[in-house]
Amino acid sequence: MHYRSVGDVPAKRHLRTPAPGGGLLFEELMGEEGFSGDSSLLYHLRSPSALVGAAHVDVTAGALVANEPLLPRHLRTSGLPPGGDASGGRHLLLGNDDVRISWVAADRTGPLWRNAVGDELAYVQAGEGDLESVFGRLAVRAGDYVVVPRSATCRWVVPDGGRLELLVVEASGHVRPPRRYLSPAGQFLEQAPYCERDIRAPEEPLVTTGEGPAEVLVRHRDGVSRHTLASSPFDVVGWAGCVYPWAFSILDFEPIVGAIHQPPHVHQTFEGPGFVVCSFVPRPYDFHAGAIKVPYHHANVDSDEVIFYSAGDFMSRAGSGIGVGSISVHPSGFVHGPQPGSMEATAGQDRTEEVAVMVDTFRPLRLGPAAASVTDDDYPWSWVRSVPLVSETVPTRSGSADQKPADAG
Ligand SMILES: [Fe+2]
Repeated sequence: MHYRSVGDVPAKRHLRTPAPGGGLLFEELMGEEGFSGDSSLLYHLRSPSALVGAAHVDVTAGALVANEPLLPRHLRTSGLPPGGDASGGRHLLLGNDDVRISWVAADRTGPLWRNAVGDELAYVQAGEGDLESVFGRLAVRAGDYVVVPRSATCRWVVPDGGRLELLVVEASGHVRPPRRYLSPAGQFLEQAPYCERDIRAPEEPLVTTGEGPAEVLVRHRDGVSRHTLASSPFDVVGWAGCVYPWAFSILDFEPIVGAIHQPPHVHQTFEGPGFVVCSFVPRPYDFHAGAIKVPYHHANVDSDEVIFYSAGDFMSRAGSGIGVGSISVHPSGFVHGPQPGSMEATAGQDRTEEVAVMVDTFRPLRLGPAAASVTDDDYPWSWVRSVPLVSETVPTRSGSADQKPADAG
């Protein structure tokens, strides 16, 4: 991200800086790729290294299982139990060695949390709250993407009686805007569908001065540990640099449209190790007089495709059972396209109000422990079942025959 300076930051780095109340401030350089990547320099009132305790935390994550037999999947997040906090209450739906995709409907403020494995990208489906971190407070609301840098100590705050619904993508590295959107100096280019002015970040530090101890749950490469620090890590009086939590609304993503169907990379929003994220937002449909306004059938031979359906209706999935809150998984090895009737249904329409988030992974996704209970068993067969004929005989999963009425969806 671009450089920011927040709170009290000395004019020159790495010099003795008096702390309010006496003594010196403690610098923390939070940097990527050793000392050769982006970084931020934070100024603490107390040592951020003052560890007074550590313990193993038993986390029943559950195993990922193969998508076998290979099938397209429809997962209904509305069927997952709500509750818990936004870090500990996540239901793991999909994952591989690069990425873990979870859902949580948090109803309480969480503990201090530090994901040392990779950046986290949260999409706020509903509700509002704050991401508090060593960098300050970042208010978030429905429609926001929120990027939390690897190892940033933070806490998801949910107002009393509130609920914060998040689709969470945990990366194994850093989540960034696509490189092709940026100049060599890191400025968003004219063709980028969003830019610096769309992005929000903490504007002032929290400067917590209360005494500790403070417990931080640290997710690391081998599990989760509980660190007890002598005092709150939110005692930062100022910071400056290019690493910090940031957010922007999916509705500030400016869609690129064409006379005929545009490939998904015009919708790309982020890139991460082993995956990309795209945003589908309200936009005019393709405007050639003969345009087919839903995607053509496609075989993404190098990726598994996940789409979270956030708002609006989803013409290309008409008749499939997919609606707001659904997740579709279209794996490599399966050719997917619009459900029957979709191409015809868009003929007289000139606009879509859909809002959706797509995650394409470059390695196969496995199914998380939460996936089985919210799987729509009918979805894999929906390209046949929704054929818009008056009546016909279609095969079922078991191979028997089943009479189905017309469905023009
Ligand atoms: Fe697709």
